[in-house]
Amino acid sequence: MKFVLSLIFLGLSCCQLTYGDIYFHNPRGSNNRLDESSRARQNANRLFNSQNNARGGYNVGNVFYYGGSQLQFEWTNQHSCGNQNANCEIVIQYMCGENVRDGVTRQTIPENLAQCKDMNCNTDTEFGMHESYENWLKCSLRQRNNGLFIADQNLGGGRKRARHTRQNANGQRRGYECSEERDYYPYWHPSPWRDIVVMTNDINRCPYYKTESENVKGRWYCDIPLQVLELNRRKGLIIPNNKADCDAFRWPRNDPEGTRGVWTQAPSHGLEEPVCQETEFTRDNHNGNGLHGTPNTFNWTIPNIEEDKCVFRIRYNISTNDYAPWDTDAEQNANPRNRGAGTNVNIFERYGFENADAAGDRGYIFKNDPTVKVFPDLDVDLAIALDTAQFGRTFQDRTFVFAIQNRPSDVPADAKIHNLNVRGKRGNIVETYPAVEYDFVPTDLHVSEEDYVHIQWTGSNTNNNGNDGQGRAGSDRNNIVLMNNQVYPEGTGVYNGPGQEFGHYGVNYPIHASEAPLGIDVLRRLAFLEPGQFGGEMSELDDAGTYFNLGAIKAPDAGTYHYMCTRNNAFTNRDQKGRLHVHPYTMETRSIGQMGGTLQAKKSKLSVDEKVFNILRTLSLEEWPVEAGSKKLESKNKKITVGDDYASDFLRVYPEKKIADSTKTFTIEMEVDSSQNDVQIYRSHSDNFATWTKVPAKIEDGKAVFQAQEGGVYVARSNRNVALIVGLTIFFIVLAIIIIGGFIYFRRHPKKFQEVISNMRKTERSLHKKV
Ligand SMILES: *[C@@H]1O[C@H](CO)[C@@H](O)[C@H](O)[C@H]1NC(C)=O
Ligand SMILES: *[C@@H]1O[C@H](CO)[C@@H](O)[C@H](O)[C@H]1NC(C)=O
Repeated sequence: MKFVLSLIFLGLSCCQLTYGDIYFHNPRGSNNRLDESSRARQNANRLFNSQNNARGGYNVGNVFYYGGSQLQFEWTNQHSCGNQNANCEIVIQYMCGENVRDGVTRQTIPENLAQCKDMNCNTDTEFGMHESYENWLKCSLRQRNNGLFIADQNLGGGRKRARHTRQNANGQRRGYECSEERDYYPYWHPSPWRDIVVMTNDINRCPYYKTESENVKGRWYCDIPLQVLELNRRKGLIIPNNKADCDAFRWPRNDPEGTRGVWTQAPSHGLEEPVCQETEFTRDNHNGNGLHGTPNTFNWTIPNIEEDKCVFRIRYNISTNDYAPWDTDAEQNANPRNRGAGTNVNIFERYGFENADAAGDRGYIFKNDPTVKVFPDLDVDLAIALDTAQFGRTFQDRTFVFAIQNRPSDVPADAKIHNLNVRGKRGNIVETYPAVEYDFVPTDLHVSEEDYVHIQWTGSNTNNNGNDGQGRAGSDRNNIVLMNNQVYPEGTGVYNGPGQEFGHYGVNYPIHASEAPLGIDVLRRLAFLEPGQFGGEMSELDDAGTYFNLGAIKAPDAGTYHYMCTRNNAFTNRDQKGRLHVHPYTMETRSIGQMGGTLQAKKSKLSVDEKVFNILRTLSLEEWPVEAGSKKLESKNKKITVGDDYASDFLRVYPEKKIADSTKTFTIEMEVDSSQNDVQIYRSHSDNFATWTKVPAKIEDGKAVFQAQEGGVYVARSNRNVALIVGLTIFFIVLAIIIIGGFIYFRRHPKKFQEVISNMRKTERSLHKKV
């Protein structure tokens, strides 16, 4: 029976056109896959509605993160974002729950409880499940939001429930996800999803997202006992979506003694408001890296909670500028009795026609696939590819289940932990697309010597057997081996001590040292994936498992460590190399955009008000101790020419250029020794420390606060007190004259000296007697 059911769903899904996309790469997005060795995933409806290309996604694999650790999300999206070609929002969320699971079958979880073990689909672990059965039950019975713009889509007749939307007019079910919740954000009914970040082209909507997020604001709903819903699923019961209808609700209908609905507010998730910031730039039809050839990323600090089963979700919402997407509602819908005439979206005014009829005559109507006459005197039509179900469209991807654990007891509570993972799957670039080839995430990881790095990855044994790669067919394996130093045109092949480069980007041979940075023990575990399989065929890591976890290790001594994966790095085919940059100072990195924000480091803080930056910038604060800073100066053959003594560490604010918009400024606070004399703040540039410019600052209570427009290297210097120095000098000269004068006098009159001494003794004795 289950099998027949899934065949029906497969049949439905095959006919749906899909061609847009968002794909999670770190953590691995499933695109509804479980463990398929076929290029296309087999069931588009397994857990959620992605609307992605069927070839996307990775096979199942699970990881865990330490509470408080830093995770870099990476994804690709196919259309533009962060430019005027489309309105774009990207929303990242997570949910946790004891029944959240990947499942072991590719079939969609049933809607009919009789098809689940013990009549309970929530606990039937055979099926993958994110949202619960109740989430679906309520969605499938809840009155849809009739105020929504559905264009000329047919949601009439029986299609009155939240499972039916403009993008999902036939109400197709995917897992237990609710279509209306999926398509609209922020959603008006309680949902299990907790918000992480909203990225938008229009940051004017940020205050709205932040205050409306379910993280901070509860949701109202019409509470009707679940048994009543379950028993009357097929009897036309509709759960009201507003107070008036909920108060009037009786079941059976019109039975005064019947079950009532209770308009109830579910509490908020009780979390911080989500981050809201502008989207990063991506170009259309690219589905790859963003600006500067680096992936689009968002860094998240994993909350300090303990959870066994969570998943991430990313949605990508795009609409065009043919109508005002956020102000268009049911008023503009087509007349259900004459859908062919098109919607009431007023495009005639915007396109400069006299009235709707004149526009209509030329085909300028917002409807499915209109044909337009571009030139008034030419009776030739051009067909416009416009699908009202997809003009305004949301794509989605979700990860596999992950856990959140307390940090190990030997990692201090305030130590930073960075996640270092692997993205990608087996295959060459064409075979893997729209997934990606292997890479380390972050490829360039910057940490400070006191930080920790949690190295972990997962993969699959069931990739497409035909996909290119080393080692056993179909299998993902990774390792980390330090690379050799540059050999040509010059190079020594030996280590140069702390703070140096280890290895080079351009070599393909690993080190061959009996002693190496990081310690041979750790390096051996990373190379041979220990502890794991004992021995076996490991030259291409075949006998290792798909999952590897080194745990959190303390960063090695300062330096840049170039490493590679010996199995997957195959020069002419693909490259799998990464770099760990360990700095001898603390640093903090964060993106701040038009919405402003603060970047808090150990001894310094940078605060940016709204609209001070006109784009999203990745900023960092590096706190160089005086010794480290002086070394940097020395390396440029420079000495600091202002002030007498250091009254603070060096603070490097990166990027070292003008970053505030026009004449605006941001605030920097840094710890200084304000007890020193005449403390002043100076700024320079680390490329050559050519000049030191004084920066006006308020200095008190061990802190300097000042305004800045640009990054650079800031330091506090104190000046010795000149008046005091002159005064003291004169005092000592006078004292010297008196002493020398006395000396000469007594040399000439030794008797006088004896007298003085004996007088002093007497005084001493008399003093003693008194006591
Ligand atoms: C997508 O954008 C539309 C406006 O076009 C909005 O109504 C909807 O709530 C958005 N959905 C999501 C998931 O962001
Ligand atoms: C995210 O974190 C990584 C590693 O800590 C860092 O290199 C990167 O610059 C950060 N990205 C942003 C956008 O803050």
